Amino acid sequence: MNIVLVGMPGSGKSTVSAELSKVLKRKVIDTDGEIVKNYGEISWIFAELGEKRFRAIETEVIAECSKLNGVIISTGGGSILCEENVQLLKRNGKIVYLYAEVATLLKRAAATPNRPLLKDNPEEKMEKLFKERAALYERAADYKIITDGLTVKQICKRIKELKI
Ligand code: S3P
Repeated sequence: MNIVLVGMPGSGKSTVSAELSKVLKRKVIDTDGEIVKNYGEISWIFAELGEKRFRAIETEVIAECSKLNGVIISTGGGSILCEENVQLLKRNGKIVYLYAEVATLLKRAAATPNRPLLKDNPEEKMEKLFKERAALYERAADYKIITDGLTVKQICKRIKELKI
């Protein structure tokens, strides 16, 4: 069974998956990382090929990742926009939703900038994405962890306790 991390940009998927990998001794597959390896930088894909093409590539990569077993899959924030992605990820995994309030997301996302969807006025854009997606994350999730105020280690402990 795979552990699949979903959540908004800035929810901590990458940081948590790196720590979780150490704690559980499981490999991490980062879907954005796979996209970059195979196609180039995400900001370049958005600018040159467009979001639609990015989403198609994301689904291809998710389809490959979901063939794996016993790994941690860290997804891009928009992975839940496509029901096919959710079904692929659930085939062999449990989806853990890393929830955080918009203020927390903005603080965390500021540490790793360069997200095309947050370019120019990240506050407004984050709020909009959150509103559009909140219900989709909730629906996709097998488990939800409210991460505001928790350290990465505490979040990992909660995930470990899920015994996925
Ligand atoms: C996206 C989030 C990004 C990346 C792409 C699109 C989104 O990943 O996949 O820029 O739609 O929310 P992070 O969630 O790691 O920022």
